[in-house]
Amino acid sequence: MKPKLIPIAMMLSITMFQQAAVAEVDKAKLKQEAVGIVKQFGGTLKPALKKAIQTGGPAHAVSVCSETAPQIAQKLRNDTGWYVKRVSLKPRNSSSAIPDSWEQKVLQQFDQRQAKGESAAKMAYAEVVDGKFRFMKAQGVEAVCLNCHAANIAPETEAALKQNYPDDKARGYTLGQIRGAFSLAKDL
Ligand code: HEC
Repeated sequence: MKPKLIPIAMMLSITMFQQAAVAEVDKAKLKQEAVGIVKQFGGTLKPALKKAIQTGGPAHAVSVCSETAPQIAQKLRNDTGWYVKRVSLKPRNSSSAIPDSWEQKVLQQFDQRQAKGESAAKMAYAEVVDGKFRFMKAQGVEAVCLNCHAANIAPETEAALKQNYPDDKARGYTLGQIRGAFSLAKDL
């Protein structure tokens, strides 16, 4: 390299470094936003679900869940401009919960991480894909989930699920497994 090119090269690398640093900061900010949206989703849905089970039992709560969950997702999409969904390798809602190929890959990785002993509670993954910031947060199976996602459930719940989800695959889960994940994305 000719000597007079060195300062230019240095300036260039400093600019590139600054851009990389800015990108890192933006990613941290986006991740924080995504985590906030997931908290709002779970923080609205789970109490509604528990209340519905307490007041009317799990069979009644099926309809609450099937109406409330899509409503919360839609409201969050409208309020934030993010793509917001819940997806699963064994989907219950066959129109909204089927993962795309990236989501499928991340869900498989979540299963592997869980099998190695990592808890679902803090399991998440973020990546920039095709000009989008994408984020997924695992949802682990807790005791309350077994009412509707275990292999054996109450007959009334079974009937309510069959009626609403004839193609239901979201059964047979045990405590601690990954039931699915919140999936968020934002155009960069
Ligand atoms: C009262 C029954 C009921 C209980 C309890 C319940 N779910 Fe579900 N779950 C449903 C129904 C119904 C749907 C489909 C919702 C829809 O149509 O969007 C669903 C869908 C989901 C989905 C979206 C992906 C898919 O398969 O459609 C996830 C993720 C999920 N449940 C996780 C959980 C977790 C985690 C718990 C425990 C904290 C839980 N569920 C407890 C009934 C239940």
